[in-house]
Amino acid sequence: MFVAANWKMNLDKKSILEFTKSLHKFKFSNQINTCIFPPMTYIDYLHNLINNLPISVGGQNCHYKSSGAFTGEVSANFLKDTGCEYVLVGHSERRIMNYENNDEIKSRAQTAINSNLKVILCVGEKLTDREEGKALEYIEKQINDCLPNNFKDLFIAYEPIWSIGTGKIPSAFEIQEMHSHIKKIVFRISNKYINVLYGGSVNTENIKEILKITNVDGVLVGGASLKAKDFLAIYSAAVKHLDTSS
Ligand code: PGA
Repeated sequence: MFVAANWKMNLDKKSILEFTKSLHKFKFSNQINTCIFPPMTYIDYLHNLINNLPISVGGQNCHYKSSGAFTGEVSANFLKDTGCEYVLVGHSERRIMNYENNDEIKSRAQTAINSNLKVILCVGEKLTDREEGKALEYIEKQINDCLPNNFKDLFIAYEPIWSIGTGKIPSAFEIQEMHSHIKKIVFRISNKYINVLYGGSVNTENIKEILKITNVDGVLVGGASLKAKDFLAIYSAAVKHLDTSS
């Protein structure tokens, strides 16, 4: 079970320090993998503050080249060097606002793997694709085009674009159907079984129901991960879910 926190471009040094104070008072479970994706500039800071806790730190993106004349970009090697274990690749905000296409995302994921980072590859359809009954087809193409070769530690986060930051989430059936579809596609391409996280408006209210859905192996949380109290409530719901389902 995976609980991932994508802080996006939020939380400064002072708020990160406050956040980590709550983490130090909390009792973590060894059944849950958890990773926080802070702004790039605070990766090192956060990593040092939570070094002794069972929480990994990750980058929100990495470039497809490992070094060179790419002003403003970040290398997967540097992420690894500053203590990251994971990296998010292909988040819809980067696909839309930074025009990252499937080819580029595949290269970014491949470079991250070559730097020994574990990749969370994000996929998700637009509302029109969903409404026109084309969501499964759309995600299949994204995976066919973006899935790197020879991966070992790769997760897919299914994040419908229309669900991110909107408070709207797909039905339990739609999530279950999509996660099962994703697992089958990845297995067909790579012969590997992967874990699929759900992301998009996950919060303290809906977490319990989301975790009950078949084929949901964890969650990628944005807005609701910005307050330590909410993040830890979501984490606790995951622990409870495992306790009751075992
Ligand atoms: P949200 O974001 O939880 O705020 O909807 C999720 C994400 O973008 O990863």
